[in-house]
Formats: sequence, C-alpha cells, structure tokens
Amino acid sequence: MAVHWQNMSHINRNEGQKFYVTTPIFYPNAKLHMGHAYSATISDIFARYSRLLGKDTYFLTGSDENTEKAVRAAAGAGQQVFPYLDGIIGGFKNLYKRLDISYDQFIRTTDKDNHWPGVEAFWKRMVDSGDIEKRSYEGLYCVGHESFITEKDLVDGKCPDHRETPQRIKEENYFFILSRYADKIRDIIASDAIRIVPTSRKNEILALLKDGLEDVSFSRPADKMTLGIPVPGDNTQKIYVWGDALTNYLTALGFGRKDHALYDRFWPADLHVIGKDILRFHAAIWPGMLLSAGLPLPKNILVHGLITSGGLKMSKTLGNVIDPVRLIDEYGADAVRYFVARHISPFEDGDMTMDSFKEAYNAGLANGIGNLVSRILKLTSDHRVSSDLPSKEDVFADETVQSYAQSFDEFDIQKACNHIWTRIASMDREIQETQPFKLVKSADAASAARGKAILSKLYRELWIVAVLLEPIIPATAATIQGLIRSNKMPSAPLFARK
Ligand code: MSP
Repeated sequence: MAVHWQNMSHINRNEGQKFYVTTPIFYPNAKLHMGHAYSATISDIFARYSRLLGKDTYFLTGSDENTEKAVRAAAGAGQQVFPYLDGIIGGFKNLYKRLDISYDQFIRTTDKDNHWPGVEAFWKRMVDSGDIEKRSYEGLYCVGHESFITEKDLVDGKCPDHRETPQRIKEENYFFILSRYADKIRDIIASDAIRIVPTSRKNEILALLKDGLEDVSFSRPADKMTLGIPVPGDNTQKIYVWGDALTNYLTALGFGRKDHALYDRFWPADLHVIGKDILRFHAAIWPGMLLSAGLPLPKNILVHGLITSGGLKMSKTLGNVIDPVRLIDEYGADAVRYFVARHISPFEDGDMTMDSFKEAYNAGLANGIGNLVSRILKLTSDHRVSSDLPSKEDVFADETVQSYAQSFDEFDIQKACNHIWTRIASMDREIQETQPFKLVKSADAASAARGKAILSKLYRELWIVAVLLEPIIPATAATIQGLIRSNKMPSAPLFARK
C-alpha cells in the first residue's frame, strides 16, 4: 500500500472544533440488553473518533426515570422505587464500565439538582412563546410507549409493539402546540439544517410531516404519576416523559442552571444517536420544542436499526435476549464492540446470534488482527527491525486514510471498519506474497535488506492500523500500540481462538 506522508505534524487540523454526542436515555425498567448496548457502543465510537481527531468532545448518556414503567418494575421486584432505580442504574454503569463506554456524564431525570431546573426553564420558554395550552383530553394511552396512541395504531385492540391494551383516559393535560411548527420542521429536515442519516429515515419523517403534525400532550394529572416534574406554576400536573426526557440533552450541560459553561461550550448537539423506534420524537417533537424555546437545533441525528436475534426482535418471552455482560465475560469488551461495529449496519436492522458472534470473532479478531500482530511483531522483534512511527495527525494526513475519515463523516462505522480490515487483509497478502521471513535470513545481502525493508514498512502499516482501531476496540488498540513501541510480540494471542 503506498503511503504518502505530508509534513503536517505541527498542525492539528481539528483544534478549536467541538463535538457533542448523545445516546438516548434508557428506561430503567430492566437491565440493558444488547440492543441498548448497541446504541451506547456506537455513540462511544463517535466520541472516541472525535477525541482521536483532537476535537473538544463531550459524550452524554443517561436514564429516563420519570416513567410508570419504572414504578411497575420496582413493584414487580418487590422494591421501593428509588432503591430500585439506584440498583438498576448501578447495573447500567457497570455495563458501561465493562464495555469501555467513555461517557463524560450520566444524567438521571430524577436528579432534582441537575435536571429539573433546566426542564422548568425550558417549559417556561414554551409558555412564553404561547405554545403550551391546557385542554381536556380523551385518548388511548400506552404505558409501553409512554405516549398516547391512536385507534388506527391498534392491532386487535392492542398496541402492536407492546402487546398491551391501552388505557382509555379522559383528563386535563397541558398540550404543546406542535402543529404550529410542522412547516418549519419540514423545511429544516428537507434542507438538512438537521441532517437525518440515513436518507431513508429522512424521507420517512418528511412523509409523516406532509400531513402536518398533531399537538402533543406534555403533562398529566399529578395524582396519576408517581414520578415526574411538577408543571411550573401548577402542581396539580406533572410534565410527562417526552417533554421531560428530550430536554436532558440540554439540562445535562447546565441549561437553566447557574453554571452553564458546558451549555455554552457544547450546545447545539453535533450528533444524537437514536434507534428507529424513537425517530418521530427526535425529528419532529424535539425540533418543535427547540423552535418554541428559541434555541439552536441539533446538527445530526443518526437513526440506527434494531438488533434482532435469529431474525426475531429480542424479547424476554421469546428467550432470545442477548446479555452483553455475558458476552463480555466470555469474549471481552473489544469483541463485542468489534461485532456491533463491523457486523451490524448502523442504518438497518441487524441480526446477531451466539453462533454468528463466534464466527465473526474467530475470523476478524483471532485469525485477523490478532494473528497479524503476532506475525509482524515476531519478525520485527527477532530481526530488530522498526521504523519511525507517524504521529496521529500524520496518520490522518495520509491520503490512504481519507476513506476511513470519510466513512466517519457519513456516520458509517461499518464502512470505516471495512477500511481497517481491508488494510489487514492486504498486509496478510503482502507477507504471503513477498515472504519477508525468508528474505531476512538470506545469505544474499541485497535480499536480506529487501526483507528488512518490507518488515519496516509492515511495522509502520501496523501502527496506522492500531491508530485507526482506537475508536472501535480501544483496549486492544492501546495494547498493540504499546507492543509496537517496544517492538515485542504479544506473550499470548490477543484474541484466543474459540
Ligand atoms: N427513554 C426513551 C428514549 C428517550 S431519549 C430522550 C427510550 N428508551 S429505551 O430504553 O426504550 O430505548 C433506548 C434506545 O435503545 C432506543 O434508541 C432504542 O431504539 C434502543 N433499542 C432498544 N432495543 C433495541 C434493539 N433491539 N436494537 C437496537 N436498539 C434498540 O426509548
């Protein structure tokens, strides 16, 4: 592979740029499964990539706690709500630690000091814009969705997603007059002022916007909600899930609080990572809320698909839920990260089974990068061959790396991985074809020198791969970089064959 170094090591091309990335905040009604871990892992990959480029990066995640789902789950577990929530959140954080999720902050919507002031300030802005109105409302409420649903959504009288009969509710609610903003939101999305990736999801939301938008209920009677933030000025009502939850992206940064330095530094979000099931909330309601409050809009929304297992949606009843902690115990965090990054498209649904996981692990990690590292470093350490190692800035100035960087600009993590594994395959091929292990032992000085030159080039190429791997499999990337620097082969395979 031709390498064209440009002398740019003194320039950090991303200095002064910032990147704010968020995950959805997760409902704490059960421990996180592989689907949730997917959202968190790809968000982490974007955060790490941005740090690798030298950008000022902030990565937010958290939990969406003011929900009756959590209250029900606590009751089911025979626990009080708050101790139950603390236990569940402890589990979330444990998973994050095990998966190397490098978040800067974990926001909890039950956090009265950090979250509530911002929600209240935001609500007041919407009131000041004349966009909040009290109405009497009758509708069908699905607790699974934490939202009202319409008669036409039902299948056999039940919510098809949650297989529950919705509650018929007649009550007073504060409504957000979202309908006013439908045209503006359509223009914003059509013009990519908020860029929705992939285009198929952009089109989906544009189709929905064609018929305008309905106003949405943003509060419920306080006596019907165990948790939740009282409506400012009317404590007979509480703000419910979406009006409260979406605001987390601002409140975590200090919006509505005295210390809003993070807000000033990082808002608007550069990237909201979400699953396709919450597209409407993020691409219609959230922009509407921000327009109403007169605040800047997020720049990009990446809408990923859902992970299925054996072709079916993961569900407890089907017994096909994959527990990420179990996988990490058996294969390590980087194996899980590798699988979701390389073998699940960020734009479509993707399938995962224990068998497909193992196969991918053996092919890409044990026989792929793991084997290559041992092979190259065995030769370079035995024959004392090395090379100057380019700085990270120089790696990104290399024109062969541009397609990797471009894949990230398109949020296509899978394509970025394919770039790396294409490099790995071509290095394997080069070893196969040029046989440097024979050349270096040759009695002919010219051949031996040629062997050393090939090894030196492979050594430097391996370094580039180890840099590009940083966002995807950070622990392994650090190990490989350390081995290269000390020119030592690993004492045990990086990924034992399974
Ligand atoms: N609390 C809301 C989000 C509020 S954001 C302001 C919520 N929570 S959730 O826990 O139900 O889901 C969180 C995320 O996990 C969503 O993006 C959802 O798409 C994702 N996933 C849940 N199951 C999934 C799969 N099986 N596969 C991939 N992602 C999945 O919605």
